[in-house]
Amino acid sequence: MKFVLGIETSCDETAAAVVSSERIIRSNILATQIDLHGPFGGVVPELACRRHAEVIDAVVDSALASAGIEAAEISALGVTGGPGLIGALLVGVSFAKAFAYAKKIPLIPINHLEGHLLAVLLSAQKAEPSGTPTQRRQVAEDLPYPLVGLVVSGGHTNLYLLPRAGVYERLGRTLDDAAGEAFDKGAKMMGLGYPGGPVIDRLASEGDPKRFRLPRPYPSLDRLDFSFSGLKTALGKVLKEYGGDLDRRSRDLPDLAAALQHAIVGVLVDKTLQAARRHRARGIIVSGGVAANSRLRSEMAQRAAREGFELLIPAAPLCTDNGAMIAAAALERLERGEEAGFDYTPRPDLPLGC
Ligand code: KG4
Ligand code: ZN
Repeated sequence: MKFVLGIETSCDETAAAVVSSERIIRSNILATQIDLHGPFGGVVPELACRRHAEVIDAVVDSALASAGIEAAEISALGVTGGPGLIGALLVGVSFAKAFAYAKKIPLIPINHLEGHLLAVLLSAQKAEPSGTPTQRRQVAEDLPYPLVGLVVSGGHTNLYLLPRAGVYERLGRTLDDAAGEAFDKGAKMMGLGYPGGPVIDRLASEGDPKRFRLPRPYPSLDRLDFSFSGLKTALGKVLKEYGGDLDRRSRDLPDLAAALQHAIVGVLVDKTLQAARRHRARGIIVSGGVAANSRLRSEMAQRAAREGFELLIPAAPLCTDNGAMIAAAALERLERGEEAGFDYTPRPDLPLGC
């Protein structure tokens, strides 16, 4: 059995994980920076990369220790090479180069968006206390192609066609804000703090999505692009009517959170199913931080089942940024014999597919 170390530092989480060639997560360690950026209402790039540099050693040590293996047992190293904040990416890539060079193992840069999509390979697997998998090892070749993949996070809202393993064609993207940004900015306007997605998700579960009417933004009915910036304006209008502040003790906040979530989720589900129908997909992958949203998960599950698509969504903790998804993607490339030279440089705008 081989072990791959995955390192992720593209944004505000310093993450490292060990995944075995059986696609079993042996450890998955996350040092979140929410405390650092919370007071600013969003990620401050300079602070993010300094914190990554401070904690990366300890995070990797902790991933090895909790996997119960030595650094010498690692066969390859996967690291996020983009897209993301350049200073933050450089911390992870520099650390990875030094580690791979010292241990004489392959260095495998991974596109963060591919990492999100391939997190689905890990969800089918659970390690028994003995470490043996309860289910058959699932590799990218085994997925139900053609697939349509939605990556929906704080920085991205992209739709892909995956005709076969390792091939990505971008079908659509957001023309302005990402869906996660719409959650985060909406929450900020409502005075709910950062990151907004999880708070809105919790509040919305007690709210009535029909009391406030927010538009479902469709930039074009036949294109597969998204646009979420108009939701801020619509939300701003509702808040203005209430004198800029909603009554925190009443139903107002849960109802408005539910309306915002309803609008965002509705568009994501409609466009993803439209893409799946159009490209005669067998399956749909939904991943990225916003895929942790309970309403998106349930609505997507219902609609996909009704229309006969197999839905693959990673377990919620594997939807948000983590090192295991980077290790999973690196395992696929390791098995195809792919690796990078030590002159590799990360790219903040690294594209996935064409
Ligand atoms: O993938 P991710 O961890 O980092 C990026 O690559 O951006 O995604 C973070 C985003 C944030 O915008 C956060 O508010 C959102 O995912 N998010 C959620 C939920 N959990 C995280 N959005 C809606 N509902 C959630 N439960
Ligand atoms: Zn992400």
